[in-house]
Amino acid sequence: MEEKLITIKNNAISLILEAKNLKETEEIRIQFLGRNGEITQLLKTLPKLSKNERPKLGSLVNEVKNIIEDTLTIRVRDLKNNKSNNVNLSKFDITEPITESDRKLGHLHLVTQAIREITAIFNEIGFTRVRYPEIEWDWYAFTSLNFPTNHPARDDWETFFIEAPVDEKKGPVLLTPHTSSGQVREMKKGKLPIKMLNIAKTYRRQSDVSHTPMFHQFEGLVVGENIAISDLKGTLNYFVKSYFGENRKSRIRPYHFQFTEPSFEVDITCGVCLGKGCRLCKEGWLELGGAGMVHPAVLKFGNIDPEKYSGFAFGWGVERVLMMKEGIKIDDLRILYSNDMDFLKQF
Ligand code: PHE
Repeated sequence: MEEKLITIKNNAISLILEAKNLKETEEIRIQFLGRNGEITQLLKTLPKLSKNERPKLGSLVNEVKNIIEDTLTIRVRDLKNNKSNNVNLSKFDITEPITESDRKLGHLHLVTQAIREITAIFNEIGFTRVRYPEIEWDWYAFTSLNFPTNHPARDDWETFFIEAPVDEKKGPVLLTPHTSSGQVREMKKGKLPIKMLNIAKTYRRQSDVSHTPMFHQFEGLVVGENIAISDLKGTLNYFVKSYFGENRKSRIRPYHFQFTEPSFEVDITCGVCLGKGCRLCKEGWLELGGAGMVHPAVLKFGNIDPEKYSGFAFGWGVERVLMMKEGIKIDDLRILYSNDMDFLKQF
């Protein structure tokens, strides 16, 4: 394809330089850039290429497209000014290396990239991404999730509370400590079945090598008839294989959360030893995050009849799964948010 592109580019440039009038330049434009033009056809084949090839060839096709456009613009201008052939061919050598200072194009932050990848994976199996407030009432973050009034998460040392009038029913205002705050909001929309993916910023009073005060979580919630643990397990396995690789497995272990019953901690097999146990992971398994079957009390808070409906939920850290993904090793999570260009440029 690279060779084909160079041929197209050379062919286009020589045709443009030879064009005698505006009618001819227009014909050349259609031949290469028109709806069925040679470049347009190539652009259409890009989605069929493998993930590795796509970015490189994509930018090459675009580069050639720009060169043809620029050459045409110059030729049209010259023809209008009655000038002859004076386009400098060497100016358009696509193989010429560019200097670092010429490279102005940035890219998405790696957390944004991870969020997009996670969203795409869950879209495939029917989850819809939603967004709920980051500045939230205590009621959605805690009370509706079955947290008792004296639960430690409700302490000033754990959660950021906001100085705002306390609501009689919904309590104080806070920064969402987890994406689970979206669960009852989603239920209260009154539409069943639910297949929600809530990805958002979350905030906790923490800052060390593996914690930042602001981080991201992605939360899945499924509610409908006959939703069972096996559905949760299937979803976990699907995500783990899609995101981490076909060779990885997931398992669930009993745990405790206020808003799920039973509750689980989800583990995945270590990327290095694939579950056998090694120096890095010891036991062969790495902890991913929490999950469980939605507690009947939470369904009731969401105006859903727990006798008729059931559901599962899971909530994991975006930064955490990113770090765990094969090949990405970050010693200090805080570097993600310190605007360190040398670090960020690598991804
Ligand atoms: N909200 C929990 C946390 O932040 C994770 C969780 C989500 C657990 C959904 C169970 C179900 O740790």
